[in-house]
Amino acid sequence: MEHIAVSLPLLKDDDVHRGYRRDLGERLASVDPRLDLEAEIRRLKVERKAVLLAHYYQDGEIQDLADHLGDSLQLAQAAKKTDAEVIVFAGVHFMAETAKILNPDRIVVVPDMDAGCSLADGCTPAALSAWKQAHPTHQVVSYINCSAEVKALSDVIVTSSNAEKIVRALPEDRPILFAPDRNLGAWLVQKIGRPMDLWPGACVVHEMFDERQIVQLKERHHAELVAHPECEAHVLRHADFIGSTTALLRRVETTQAKTVIVATEPGILHQMRRARPDLELLEAPGEDPSCKCNLCPHMKRNTLEKLYLSLRDLTPRIEMPRDLLDRARVPIERMLSLS
Ligand code: 13P
Ligand code: SF4
Repeated sequence: MEHIAVSLPLLKDDDVHRGYRRDLGERLASVDPRLDLEAEIRRLKVERKAVLLAHYYQDGEIQDLADHLGDSLQLAQAAKKTDAEVIVFAGVHFMAETAKILNPDRIVVVPDMDAGCSLADGCTPAALSAWKQAHPTHQVVSYINCSAEVKALSDVIVTSSNAEKIVRALPEDRPILFAPDRNLGAWLVQKIGRPMDLWPGACVVHEMFDERQIVQLKERHHAELVAHPECEAHVLRHADFIGSTTALLRRVETTQAKTVIVATEPGILHQMRRARPDLELLEAPGEDPSCKCNLCPHMKRNTLEKLYLSLRDLTPRIEMPRDLLDRARVPIERMLSLS
């Protein structure tokens, strides 16, 4: 079967995208509903000499099949170390791109090429380039939630778990442009006390939490609040602990509290419940109680069926021009060496 290779999240309205969705639909229809998908995925991983990397925001059934489960940094580190012939990335597009940039000669497949990210989508290479040109003396620090093209325009990449350490280590003589998450950026400015110009991007999931309801829930349950730094400042100011998904999990593993409110995508609760079955874990409420808006619509595109198909057919693949791979690798390698 011909594999589909795409370098960017697909444009929603063109023939390539329509062809991709049609092909995916046909392949999904070809899956026998009686198939034991978990067993097939395990079998295909061995047959294809593949490694499955999964983010904590994936559904529990996908997390349970992963060879490496982690936050953005841990998954980039696992991608850097692997000697598998195939990397299957159960996360979102920019994460799989990072794995490909670190493994230009390996096959990298994703369950659904349309699993994007509001942060990455909101910062185009052209706009970032113009921002850079307007600030020629600045160094560019980009959150890993951005496209390969934006990475190639950056001096260094950070994730939520290493951003503080890396920004503290940057030369003092050049001011900083920070893209694309204004909430993570504002939190860093407050924590480190170093001014940065912030790109006005945000995560659709982490901006939906409701401060008033969180405060009320916290008081009612005498609960601890743990929050991801992609949340807005008015939510973060009530947090007892702020950190990456892995850091939030570590905190929950050791907390003395009896009830914890978790302000991030609830996929992480799968591991939190497993680590602390004695704890009451509550999802932080959003503004609209009728909407499960705290579920990342991109992460949740990945299903067991699509994961099985990506291994069976080795498509869709992440592909990029060699020149882009080489340029985007520089700031990622810099991040890995500073982590
Ligand atoms: P981390 O995995 O670094 O905690 O980031 C969360 C996130 O938003 C991933 O898209
Ligand atoms: Fe992007 Fe937010 Fe989804 Fe993470 S949770 S992948 S930042 S949209």
